[in-house]
Amino acid sequence: MNYRHAFHAGNHADVLKHAVLLFCLEALLRKPTPFAVLDTHAGRGLYDLQGDEAMRSPEWQAGIGKLMDWTDAPPLIARLVETVRGLNHEGGLRLYPGSPTLIAEALRPDDLLMACELHPEEYVALRRTLPRAANVQLHARDGWEALSALLPPKQKRGLVLIDPPYEEPDELVRSAREIGQALKRFGHGTILWWRPLKNASILDSADSEVNAQMLATGARETLRADLWLTPPTPDGKLTGSSMFVINPPYGLDTALRAVLPALAARLGAGASGWRLS
Ligand SMILES: C[S@@+](CC[C@H](N)C(=O)[O-])C[C@H]1O[C@@H](n2cnc3c(N)ncnc32)[C@H](O)[C@@H]1O
Repeated sequence: MNYRHAFHAGNHADVLKHAVLLFCLEALLRKPTPFAVLDTHAGRGLYDLQGDEAMRSPEWQAGIGKLMDWTDAPPLIARLVETVRGLNHEGGLRLYPGSPTLIAEALRPDDLLMACELHPEEYVALRRTLPRAANVQLHARDGWEALSALLPPKQKRGLVLIDPPYEEPDELVRSAREIGQALKRFGHGTILWWRPLKNASILDSADSEVNAQMLATGARETLRADLWLTPPTPDGKLTGSSMFVINPPYGLDTALRAVLPALAARLGAGASGWRLS
């Protein structure tokens, strides 16, 4: 486990993932009944964009750094920018939230966050970042194993964020398989699955596998949003990212359609693009 998210925090991929996450949380908050969120690969929860790791090759400058002064940003992005401003109350851009921070801040007292982080140092940092609260459960455990151990939640509604580091060559295939299992336990939950965009046809076959597994569960709809800064290259380098959403909340497709063209134009330099399907 060499992956450290601090090198990538606030980049274009985080921006897309976290904007979609905030939209889904807001949709859950519209109903008074409590919900649960399982964050299978949580990270440390808060990132210092001026720290050594983030400054090594400051990916955030081409991500959240390009969005902070977007005065007429569509709501999907405006919400994230507002949240990041709230963290940096002294002005400027130093702190960037990870997924468990965004989730924990959205919770009401009866809602629940279950966040898993397997790397010992990242787990300790996560523990330091998040408040000790009855509705925040932190687990130093394998997020894949948590999909069967912690689902379905007793709240019966909610979402699962699956955001692995893709260090292992089979992690995309594994994710598709594990999602199939998770759907058997929590078929009506919303699942947010982040994937690196390197090779579109590999992603297409992972989507087909999940779609086939969905037939046997209560899950019905999917939405895929891709954003790339440059077109995929034969060497398979990361050029963008893809969010695959199972059981998306009402209005997410419209919100993404309103933002993706402008976001691609703002983050890319002419060769960027997007897809929504
Ligand atoms: C992409 S980062 C997560 C970023 C975070 N979800 C966010 O949006 O802020 C992936 C994290 O998963 C952790 N990790 C790797 N393998 C894991 C596993 N099997 N179970 C739980 N966490 C794992 C890594 O240490 C890393 O912190």
